[in-house]
Amino acid sequence: VAPSPQPGSSSPALHFEVLAQCGRARAARMTLPHHTCETPMFMPVGTQGSVKGLTSQQLLDLQCQVILGNTYHLENRPGAELVADMGGLHSFINWPRGMLTDSGGFQMVSLLHLADINEEGVTFQSPTDGKRMLLTPEHSIQVQNRLGADIIMALDDVVPSTAADNARFEEATHRTTRWIDRCIAAHSRPHEQNLFAIVQGGLDERLRDISLKGLVARNTPGYAIGGLAGGEDKRSFVRVVSQCTAGLPEGKPRYVMGIGYPLDIVICSALGADMYDSVYPTRTARFGVALVPQGVLKLKNAAYVQDYRPLDEECGCMVCRRYTRAFLHPLAAKGLPFAASLISYHNIAYTMRLSGQIRRAIIEQRYPSFVREYVAQQYPRGG
Ligand code: GUN
Ligand code: ZN
Repeated sequence: VAPSPQPGSSSPALHFEVLAQCGRARAARMTLPHHTCETPMFMPVGTQGSVKGLTSQQLLDLQCQVILGNTYHLENRPGAELVADMGGLHSFINWPRGMLTDSGGFQMVSLLHLADINEEGVTFQSPTDGKRMLLTPEHSIQVQNRLGADIIMALDDVVPSTAADNARFEEATHRTTRWIDRCIAAHSRPHEQNLFAIVQGGLDERLRDISLKGLVARNTPGYAIGGLAGGEDKRSFVRVVSQCTAGLPEGKPRYVMGIGYPLDIVICSALGADMYDSVYPTRTARFGVALVPQGVLKLKNAAYVQDYRPLDEECGCMVCRRYTRAFLHPLAAKGLPFAASLISYHNIAYTMRLSGQIRRAIIEQRYPSFVREYVAQQYPRGG
């Protein structure tokens, strides 16, 4: 295996340059076909192409750099061919910056529970028309090539961390490595789109090591750490992320999939990860929950009836400048879409601002004290 050049690397459609390191944490600049990103960065999830409750203009105002789309959802409706005819996902959803599509298998396994995985691919029953469909590595990549995102994800064999035995994790680890070769062979646009491999292996150190070695040898433009964010305990989570970031090339982006709790973003960044995505900020907003430096505010709670403060006094986002907790409380209590939109806006603002604070603390060589203060703020009694 050729060592990747340090401290940055170039692939035809991705340039990655580490600008500063503080311990294992790093701040980098990543140039994609549609946007030059500053990392560590959080990427909001727009399942059907749009981030729920927010417009493209709002996402631009919030300094979002990359948003996610899901191959499975977009292929189901409106279909990748139609999106390609419209000039690709960027023009279809009117988003000029970076886009990333996930390969689809994870969504089937996690959402449908109807998925059946064998060597050929992932078979599932379409929830729209009930037809059985087979998603192979080749088909996932073909669809993602049509959608045209800056970063596309390999089809991986994802095991739900709860219901599985060791033999199943072993099989999935090796299968994910076999599938990356099929993904690479099927990828028809390597000069326009970056295929990221996804490290699997559950919570097992030996399997993670096998996955890391196999995937690093394939020399993809970036790597994701998958199979987490499934309710595993924090100690295992940190151990696996730490092992994976240590085993991945320094000069390439590292993306921890499905991570969106603010504290997890802070911790993964300390371990040398660069990219995160999650529905958490927008999903929790739909339940009336706002992210604040001290943790969360549950706005349905009657405690906010006469609370005339903004959601977060330090925030300064459009919502925090214009609306009070007292105003948002009845809207949230009734579950109105307007409340979901406003709280989503603030929660994305919060998560984006946190990414910026992480990045500055790394550049200014004070990341350890930033982490200590962030944890102390969220757990004031040392809990
Ligand atoms: N999203 C969150 N975790 C995963 C994973 O392990 N694989 C894929 N493809 N997507 C994910
Ligand atoms: Zn705000």
